[in-house]
Parts: sequence; C-alpha cells; structure tokens
Amino acid sequence: MKKIVVLLSGRGSNMAAIAAALREERWPASIACVIADRPQAQGLARAAQAGLATAVVERSAFARRDDFERALAETIDAHRPDAVVLAGFMRVLGAAFVERYHGRLLNIHPSLLPAFPGLDTHRRALQGGVAVHGATVHYVGAEVDAGPIIAQAAVPVMPEDDEDALAARVLASEHRLYPMALRWHLDGRLRLQGTRVTLADPRPGEARWLWNDAR
Ligand code: GRF
Repeated sequence: MKKIVVLLSGRGSNMAAIAAALREERWPASIACVIADRPQAQGLARAAQAGLATAVVERSAFARRDDFERALAETIDAHRPDAVVLAGFMRVLGAAFVERYHGRLLNIHPSLLPAFPGLDTHRRALQGGVAVHGATVHYVGAEVDAGPIIAQAAVPVMPEDDEDALAARVLASEHRLYPMALRWHLDGRLRLQGTRVTLADPRPGEARWLWNDAR
C-alpha cells in the first residue's frame, strides 16, 4: 500500500476529490494523514468526516519558517509517505523542505503554468484576455509555482465569464486532474528528467493533458 500525506490550508476540495478517487477506483494506496497549517482550515473537518487522520502544525506557533518546516517534516515523516500532496497549502516552502521531498512533492496550481504563477490567477487570466486557461499538477521545485510539469487541464474562457465562473470551471478540471496525476506518480509511471516529466507506457486515451469543453 502506497501512502499519501496531504497538506492544505483551506477548503479541501482537491483533497476530497483524491479521497473519492482512492475509494471509488480502489487504489492500492491510502491517505495516511491530512495536515493543515491552521486549525480553522475547512479541509480538516472534511477529512475528519471522511474518516481520515488529521493533524495541525500551526505556522503561527513558530517564529521562524525553518522551525515550522522542521516540525511539519517530522509530522509528515512519521507516515513515511510515497507522495506529499500540496492541495491549497498556502505557504511558500524553503529549499531544505523542497529538497527533502524531491520527486515526491506534488502541487496543483490554478493556471496553465508557466502562465500566471502566484495568486489571483483567474482574474489575471480574464484581464490578459486568454482564450484557454486551466490547471497544472507539477513536482515542486525551488521556485514558487514552478517545477517539472506532470499534467495540465485546459478549459475554455467563455465571453460571459466572470472570475467566479472561470474559477468553478477550472476547479472542476482540477478534481479530475489531480487524482489522475497522483495515481501515475504512485504507480511509478512518471519519469522525471531535469525539468521534464514523461508518462511511461501511456494507455489508449491517456495523455498528460485534459481538455474540458464546457460548451
Ligand atoms: C485550488 O484552486 C488549487 O489549485 C490551489 O488552491 C486551491 C485549493 O482549493 N492551489 P481546495 O482547497 O482544494 O478546494
């Protein structure tokens, strides 16, 4: 059985999508723990309701980021995870932490990276007038919202879209994308070479991209 640790700060809908895929598709894997950096994170309650173990490593309990990250790593390492999944974890992680989990630290970002790293991606996509927007699952690298791309989901930007409508369309695609990418990682099907990832032995219909035509 492969083990997953999920880190989150907020709502936890990606965590819930991964938990649902694990259950419904009977993955040979389990979520060992859902860890939040703040006790109020809605995702914690959601995880507990789903019967998952939870923990809080509160950022505000530590003066220095290094100390917070050391405590976080201790909590993670107790579970010996095969994948550490950032799912709306709103912290910039230091180089030592990223290095420790090299090749097993995954993140989802709500844009087609390298476009729109950082916050407010949907507003910026609308302002930028792009026709296609989406989400990216990547291995975490030294830079924020960067690192080898595992898979991307593209969605159209519709003329009538506001930020909320576009965010909802992207989020729905995230809920398909993250379980797909994580499963590949756990099954040992991803080859990481430098900045590039390849999927070994793609099955018919399998690709590192998803297209969600919302029309
Ligand atoms: C998602 O949009 C994800 O791409 C970003 O943070 C948001 C988390 O949402 N990193 P949720 O907590 O999974 O609902």
